[in-house]
Amino acid sequence: MEKITNLCKRRGFVFQSSEIYGGLASCWDYGPLGVELKRNITEAWWRDNIVAREDMVGLDSAILMHPKVWEASGHVEGFTDPLVDCKSCKQRFRADQLSGPKCPECGGELTEARQFNLMFRTFMGPVEDTASTIYLRPETAQGIFVNFQNVLNSSRMKIPFGIGQIGKSFRNEITPGNFLFRTREFEQMEIEFFVKPGDDAEWHERWKAERFAWYQRYGIRRARLRLREHDKEELAHYAKRTADVEYEFPMGWSELEGIANRTDFDLKQHAKTSGKALTYFDEERKTHVVPYAIEPSAGADRSVLAFLVDAYREEEVRGEKRVLLRLHADLAPIKIAVLPLLKKRDEIVARAREIQGRLARRWVSVYDDTAAIGRLYRRQDEVGTPYCVTVDVQTVGDRERGETGDAKVTIRERDSMDQIRVPVAELETVFRELLTDGIPWSTVGARYPATTKS
Ligand code: GAP
Repeated sequence: MEKITNLCKRRGFVFQSSEIYGGLASCWDYGPLGVELKRNITEAWWRDNIVAREDMVGLDSAILMHPKVWEASGHVEGFTDPLVDCKSCKQRFRADQLSGPKCPECGGELTEARQFNLMFRTFMGPVEDTASTIYLRPETAQGIFVNFQNVLNSSRMKIPFGIGQIGKSFRNEITPGNFLFRTREFEQMEIEFFVKPGDDAEWHERWKAERFAWYQRYGIRRARLRLREHDKEELAHYAKRTADVEYEFPMGWSELEGIANRTDFDLKQHAKTSGKALTYFDEERKTHVVPYAIEPSAGADRSVLAFLVDAYREEEVRGEKRVLLRLHADLAPIKIAVLPLLKKRDEIVARAREIQGRLARRWVSVYDDTAAIGRLYRRQDEVGTPYCVTVDVQTVGDRERGETGDAKVTIRERDSMDQIRVPVAELETVFRELLTDGIPWSTVGARYPATTKS
């Protein structure tokens, strides 16, 4: 994990929040490369789970909600962790995570466990009293449940259908940590998929398979993923069954996403508390029914961490260490780096800048001339850039000697380090095939002559 956190800071993926003031515990800021990576992950999730499916629609509900929402959902009463303090060193722990009766840090005596509510509280308006207390949402899901009828009435969707949203959630975790894994402010990618009661078990299985496959589609190794069913005692108050997609993080197997069968619990609770019907009309049975909800709930920040950890590799190339992120091209923060072989030659620099400017209209790309070509390649490998384009003397020719260039550049692929020579005029077609159409490098590269690796 230390290698990942160092790389994240050094290359501008993730910084400690408020670092110049000593940092704020368990809060992180995404830097220039991190913000691209996270956006690519949330966009891939949105595209695959909302845009590409006829049975899904999207939503973006407010973080602040009516306080009754959290009474109805059971969060005011039950969204708690058992907290104990060490009487000697004053450290705090979650009682359910301790293996013995003593403090794991100093062996001191612990206080009795008391229930600690994880919701952040604040006040709406100028008066700070009980009547104006509201909460920062601890899950995005409730925004979906309270809008169920609005979406049903306005979108003409029919059961089975789902509503997805991506947004921030907040939990005053007792034991945050492990970098992006457990934080107090985080982003969720959640779906509530509404089905007929009785069809819920089948849809739960479908979503488990769908979500398990999704992480592999974007490159996570199968061997580092598993599905784990919750025991009865572990189930949340709303769930009939839950399975977690777990990833083998550096600290061990841990939850990446939870896929729960929430039954009709939430819609019934909100109907009871608000007095509004939250049902659909079952044409076959000619009656109003409360649907069941299957909930695949993923963390965007946890996904960033899993994709980074999984992509991180160290290799030896011609006696030298090469660090690379084997990120899926859809997720890579930078898609193309354009590099001049010689920065002293004005024509080479001008051509490289012109090519980069053109590519930047369609793909996130950078120009870099601040080191020798070998160093430049390693720098891009380390942040997961799948393709580098190099402009050299052959590309531009030599005006003084009356030599015209061949108007071709070298494209280098990150993982294989293979290089091919491609006409500048065909660059956009090649990158459209590789980056937009997802045609493999082996197919596209085979059309062009190969040059030596570096
Ligand atoms: N609506 C259901 C729900 O919120 P959860 O298992 O508590 O279920 C779902 O959270 C996902 O949200 C987790 O699998 C994880 O990816 C992410 N998540 C939850 N708490 C988190 C935290 N403190 N820091 C980062 N991610 C978190």
